[in-house]
Amino acid sequence: MCGIVGYVGPRPSTDILLSGLARLEYRGYDSAGIAVIDDAGELGMRKRAGKLGILREDLARAPISDGTTGIGHTRWATHGGPTDGNAHPHLADEGKLAVIHNGIIENFAALKAELVSEGYDFVSETDTEVAAVLLGREYRANGADLEAAFRATVSRLDGAFTLLALHREHPGLVVGARRNSPLVIGLGEGENFLGSDVAAFVEHTRSALAIGQDQIVAITPGGVRVTDFDGDPVEVEPFEVTWDATAAEKGGWSSFMAKEVSEEPEAVANTIRGRISDGAVAIPELDGLDDLFRDIDRILVIACGTAAYAGQVGKYALEQWARVPVDVELAHEFRYRDPVLSPRTLVVSISQSGETMDTLMAVKYASERGARTLSICNTQGATIPRESDAIVYTHAGPEVAVASTKAFVAQITALYLLALHIGSVRGELTAVESAQHVRELEAIPAKIQRILDREQEHTTQLAHWMADTRSVLFLGRHVGFPIALEGALKLKEISYIHAEGFAAGELKHGPIALIEPGQPVFVIVPSPRESSQLHDKVVSNIQEIRARGARVIVVAEEGDAAVLPFADEVLRIPLAGPLFEPLLAVVPLHIFAMGLATAKGLDVDQPRNLAKSVTVE
Ligand code: G6P
Repeated sequence: MCGIVGYVGPRPSTDILLSGLARLEYRGYDSAGIAVIDDAGELGMRKRAGKLGILREDLARAPISDGTTGIGHTRWATHGGPTDGNAHPHLADEGKLAVIHNGIIENFAALKAELVSEGYDFVSETDTEVAAVLLGREYRANGADLEAAFRATVSRLDGAFTLLALHREHPGLVVGARRNSPLVIGLGEGENFLGSDVAAFVEHTRSALAIGQDQIVAITPGGVRVTDFDGDPVEVEPFEVTWDATAAEKGGWSSFMAKEVSEEPEAVANTIRGRISDGAVAIPELDGLDDLFRDIDRILVIACGTAAYAGQVGKYALEQWARVPVDVELAHEFRYRDPVLSPRTLVVSISQSGETMDTLMAVKYASERGARTLSICNTQGATIPRESDAIVYTHAGPEVAVASTKAFVAQITALYLLALHIGSVRGELTAVESAQHVRELEAIPAKIQRILDREQEHTTQLAHWMADTRSVLFLGRHVGFPIALEGALKLKEISYIHAEGFAAGELKHGPIALIEPGQPVFVIVPSPRESSQLHDKVVSNIQEIRARGARVIVVAEEGDAAVLPFADEVLRIPLAGPLFEPLLAVVPLHIFAMGLATAKGLDVDQPRNLAKSVTVE
């Protein structure tokens, strides 16, 4: 939700800013802009509505005078539509000062009224311009001291923000501040960077510093100063980025999503790696927490979007293996209903980005009310893990496409490792049972690869045939239910088709009324080898919808012949234990959504209206 990049150093900054923005474009892509102080000390600025490519073309046609201090922004609109005028940067102090912003300034209307009454003019509808104008006023009131002015400005702002600013009277200086919105520092040789996340600067340096909440940073070519909002120096945590720039590049794939789906086997394997010892789960990050895991009487999983569906899958494993009651809740609903929490509640948050505002606020709320918190996150240095008591990182590598795919399978994997760990610590699983589940989990990457190798072409072909479809339903049962929800979400997100997921057992209680001749329905079929008879019940559901004219596409285990008489299409997945099926069944659904969006000529990586990292509530 808005990408931010800042640079100071010896090099011309325009290209550095544009390539940083290209890596942050997943955060928002409805407009983009840069501001640069050139070698003559003039401030140049260019901003354009539309994707980054439009700004790039504009700058190629009519370059701004380059210089070695700059800031850049890619926007996901909140206040004011995506127009050239509302794009960032916003200027103040007679065009000498430029500001970019991520977040929402909640008291912007009162501040604007105050500034208007003092005679200040505004040219945009944004809350950001209010911060810029306020900073301009404070700059003059504080004797042209940019850092002092910045401190005075941020202390007046309510809400969530990352702000960066530069002033032409201070070449070689970029100041930044953060409250409930991300900002990290990249440390170079004689140059320094700021970014919404490390992707902004990873092609230049993998050495980074994580800034805490309510802190201000000033970067110059030779140094970095971090203070709190009162100006007192604070210590910041250094970290090394574990992946390099190539990991966040398309590398010959037609889209980031295609690349990321192809990386699903690796995402699972890398999340397991280093966490198995002698056939048992050993998660080094959780050393010393055994008493906590023994003591808890409840687990509450909080997340949004795809991560929440991973949480729903995880619930089955946590309850079955660890024998702890688990509730899964959407983070944005959780804290508005006075939930019952205690020190024996473990709140497990799941977030690919680690920055989703709804999830962050829910974690803080749970912590304040005495619950213990554990974050499952894919992004080093992100805010949610830093606000949590414990962290289990998913090692899916950078995920760039807005629709989450490889992170989803990595999140389920991390939840399964956690469930096995807690189950063993609590004595609910024997070493033999645990070792058997570990073996199943370790076999998953190769099975996902087999689906990619054998089913991708057929599934993509099917998606192309269905390019004109207006609505698709997904049915699943047990762990197949959250997979049905995920299949439907993916289709909505990237192909703009009406799609809904249902628990197959709920069909007769309402959704069956939606079935009319030709209605495509995906059915995730449990294994016939299971003792629960769920397979037969789902096959009955298939017959019920088939009888009403549905076009049935089943996702079924290899060798399951019982589905053949009732299925129009069969997508096969390898054999796996019941709890492991979701890690396989979701793969054809990801491929299908991608194929359908591609067949409709849509941008699968940057779907309309969405952003990957939603840092507003
Ligand atoms: C956004 C994205 C979804 C994602 C959700 C949660 O809505 O478009 O793809 O699942 O945020 O993101 P997180 O980073 O917290 O996993």
